[in-house]
Amino acid sequence: MPEQYMLLMPHKVIGGSNALEQIEGLLKGKYKKAAVFTDKGIHNSGIIDYPLELLGLCNLEIIIFDELPTEPSCDEAQKVVDDFRRSGADLIVGIGGGSVMDVAKLASIAATDTYGVRDLLDKPFIGRKFADVLLIPTTAGTGSEATPNSIVTVPEKNLKVGIVNAEMLADMVILDGRMLKNLPQQIAASTGIDALAHAIECYTSNKANPISNMFAMEALKLIFDNIIPACEDPGAVKEKNSMLLAAFYAGAAITASGTTAVHALSYPLGGRYHIPHGISNAIMLLPVLKFNRPSCLKELEEIYDTVSKRNLNVRQEEKAEWVLNKISEIIRTLKIPSSLRSFGINTGDLEALVQDGMQVKRLLNNNKTTVTAEDARKLYLEVMQ
Ligand SMILES: NC(=O)c1ccc[n+]([C@@H]2O[C@H](COP(=O)([O-])OP(=O)(O)OC[C@H]3O[C@@H](n4cnc5c(N)ncnc54)[C@H](O)[C@@H]3O)[C@@H](O)[C@H]2O)c1
Ligand SMILES: [Zn+2]
Repeated sequence: MPEQYMLLMPHKVIGGSNALEQIEGLLKGKYKKAAVFTDKGIHNSGIIDYPLELLGLCNLEIIIFDELPTEPSCDEAQKVVDDFRRSGADLIVGIGGGSVMDVAKLASIAATDTYGVRDLLDKPFIGRKFADVLLIPTTAGTGSEATPNSIVTVPEKNLKVGIVNAEMLADMVILDGRMLKNLPQQIAASTGIDALAHAIECYTSNKANPISNMFAMEALKLIFDNIIPACEDPGAVKEKNSMLLAAFYAGAAITASGTTAVHALSYPLGGRYHIPHGISNAIMLLPVLKFNRPSCLKELEEIYDTVSKRNLNVRQEEKAEWVLNKISEIIRTLKIPSSLRSFGINTGDLEALVQDGMQVKRLLNNNKTTVTAEDARKLYLEVMQ
C-alpha cells in the first residue's frame, strides 16, 4: 500500500430519484450561456429532451454540440474544444457516456490559444479551468464523472492515452437512472463490465489504499447485485440508479488508486482496432485476473467475504475461485464477447499488440504481478483462441 493517499472528488454530486429536477437550483442565475455536449446516438434516442427542458427553465442561452465522436482521438477532441471556445459559453453540460464526458472535461481546461489537447498529452499539468462543468452520465459506466481523467486515442501510437489533471474534476454531477432508460442492452452490459473492471482492478492495485478500497468494495457490492437486472430490464430504474452509483464509486476508486493490467492491455485493442472500451476490458478481465490470482488471494478473499452472502468458512483458494466464476457468469449471461475472434484479430497481430500494451507503463506499474512482454503475449494469445 502507498504510504500516502489522497481523496479528490467533484465539487457537488446529486443522485437518486428525481435528481435531474435539481438542475434549476444548481444553474439558475449563475451562468449566461450553456454549451450542451452530447452525441448523435444520445440525441436521437430522445434521452436528452427532458434535461434540455429543465435547462430551459434556467434563464440560460443554450447551444447544443451533438456531433461529439465516440472514443475520440486527440485531434477530434481539439475540434470540439475549438468550436466550444468560439461559442463564448461559460458552462459545459456534458450529457453522455465516457466519450462525451471526457471531451467536456477536456474543453473545460483546453479552451485557450496558449496550448492544445496534444500539448496536454505530454504536459497535462499545464491545464487550467476556463469553464464550469455539469456532467450527467448516460452509461454506468466509465465513472468519468468522478475522475480527473480524460482518455483520447493517439492515432500515430495506436493507443489510448489518459490525460490526468485535477482541474478536470467536475463542478457538478447528476446521477439519475432515468438517463439509462433506453440504453441498448449490449452497451449497458459492456459499460457495466467496465465499472466492474475499475472496481476490482483498483482493489487489487499496488496503489490500493483505505479510501480507494472503500469505494471499490461498495461498487463491487452494487454491481454484483444489480448489473444483470439493470441491463436486461429497461424499466429497472432502481437497479439502474444502483449501477450509476456503482460506476461513480468505481470512478472515485480510480482517482484514489488506479487500474492495472486489464486496462493497460485493453488500450491497444481500443487504440489500434477500435473495439469499444467496455468490450475490450471484458475480453481481458478474466485472463488478467487469473494471471494475478496468486498475488491477489487476500483481496479476492475479502471480496468474497463482503459480496458473496455465502459460507465464510471455506478455503481462501475456493473464495478466489468463486469471485472469478461469478465474473465469468456475469459476462456469459450478458453475452459480452470474451475473445478477439469475432473482431478478426489473430496471431498476425500479436507482436504489435504486445509492443503497444507494454507501453502502458502508467497502469502496468500498478499491477501486483509484474507483466513481462512474454506474459502479455500469453494473455493476448489466450483471448485469440
Ligand atoms: N475519464 C475516465 O475516467 C474514463 C474511464 C473509463 C473509460 N473512459 C473512456 O470513456 C469512453 C467510453 O465511454 P462509454 O463506455 O460510456 O461509451 P460511449 O460514451 O463511447 O458511448 C457508447 C455508445 O452508446 C451510446 N449511448 C450512450 N448512452 C446512451 C443512452 N442512454 N441511450 C442510448 N444510447 C446511448 C452513444 O451514443 C455511443 O454510441 C472511452 O473513450 C473510454 O476510454 C474514460
Ligand atoms: Zn475503463
